[in-house]
Amino acid sequence: MTPGARTQAVIELLDAIQSGNEPTDRIIDAYFRKRRFAGSGDRRSVNQTVYEILRHRARLDWWIARTGSQLEPSPRARVIAELALEKKSSPQDTRSLFNGAKHCPEAMTPFEDALAEALYGRPLSHGDMPPHVTLEYPEWMDRSLQALWSERLAVEMSALNQPAPVDVRVNTLKASPDAARQSLKEGFVDSEPTPLSPIGLRLSGKTRLAGTTAFKNGWIEVQDEGSQLIALLCDARPGMDVVDFCAGGGGKALALAASMGLVGECNGRLTACDISAYRLERMAPRVKRAGLEEIQTQVVAAQDDPWVTKNERTMDRVLADVPCTGTGAWRRDPNARWRSTLDDLDDKVALQQRILGMTAGLVKPGGRLIYTTCSLLQEENERQLAWFLERHADFQALPIDAVWAETVGGPPPPSGPCLRLSPASTGTDGFFCAVMEKKS
Ligand SMILES: C[S@@+](CC[C@H](N)C(=O)[O-])C[C@H]1O[C@@H](n2cnc3c(N)ncnc32)[C@H](O)[C@@H]1O
Repeated sequence: MTPGARTQAVIELLDAIQSGNEPTDRIIDAYFRKRRFAGSGDRRSVNQTVYEILRHRARLDWWIARTGSQLEPSPRARVIAELALEKKSSPQDTRSLFNGAKHCPEAMTPFEDALAEALYGRPLSHGDMPPHVTLEYPEWMDRSLQALWSERLAVEMSALNQPAPVDVRVNTLKASPDAARQSLKEGFVDSEPTPLSPIGLRLSGKTRLAGTTAFKNGWIEVQDEGSQLIALLCDARPGMDVVDFCAGGGGKALALAASMGLVGECNGRLTACDISAYRLERMAPRVKRAGLEEIQTQVVAAQDDPWVTKNERTMDRVLADVPCTGTGAWRRDPNARWRSTLDDLDDKVALQQRILGMTAGLVKPGGRLIYTTCSLLQEENERQLAWFLERHADFQALPIDAVWAETVGGPPPPSGPCLRLSPASTGTDGFFCAVMEKKS
């Protein structure tokens, strides 16, 4: 692809990301599946520019508005602004990309031309920008995030706006972390043990894992270190009756199954529930590859589900990995931050409370309910825990350092009575986790 054609691809992708609802990586994959002529260098370059523009979007839009060029913050305008502010492309160089040739962007309008002229030589960040612009988060989250982080706001939000590393969980039913690491090395994939999870490896750089022996043999699963830790904190053991209530595609369910040793003659049972049959179905090939006995799956209704009623007070462990705003996972899809709204948060809070109510009923006396989100917002975390404990005097929150010592081993990262993970503090995605025990 010519430089102009790459620029046009970036504009088309930004358009598709803005108007679609799919995660960014899926939109990019689908785009290039239809354009087999694009080489790996083209893909890498386009991919990188798209992600950079999504990570700079608030600042680019601030500059577009500031120049008074009467341009909407369209994908074209953002590309022109990114070229001037970040790539230090002169107006003349930008014009040569927007040349109207086949596969290249249309020539710039006079307003776009004025934008390229006005922004050339300026820095991306500016002292007049408010924190939500400099730190790239939606304005409506300002109060929550300032209250949460106060003087750590800049450091936390900057870390959340960096690319994430790729972590894998070692399937200890099939291989030790050392053996998996060695096998990856033989496939030219370098990795290091993850700092906190004893069963994790962090890869150096981005790699296609699907062709490696370790992946094909089911020794590894791609999973952020934070997710691995949540699964370990569930303390799911052989012989237990365990439910992963919001199992989705099964990331944590697979990890729970490995902890429970769900292979051969085992007498434990793991039920993966979700409201979406489609998501549960996607788990099957992963279960097979991991060499696990079948994990039972159960589609549950949002409310008054008969399976839930039938299994009341029977479970040793119930994981509620509830739907949330996903603020803790913004590193993986920087566009997710521009999709969430205050209404969305209100809906999620109500749904989380409904799920907490349903899952509490499943736990048997002495059993545990593990509530977790990949959100950073207190509305979805500490406040939900307080809401729940106020209404369920038969549950008590266990101190996380004791649970951590029993399950992960050693001292947890300092985070108070519940677990809080974040890119800046633990190098993982952002997570919250509370472990509650039902009194006997
Ligand atoms: C955070 S995701 C789960 C991720 C998954 N546990 C993993 O580790 O890969 C939340 C899941 O909750 C499911 N969900 C939404 N509403 C639900 C409900 N009322 N009952 C059960 N699951 C629900 C969604 O379909 C989604 O798969």
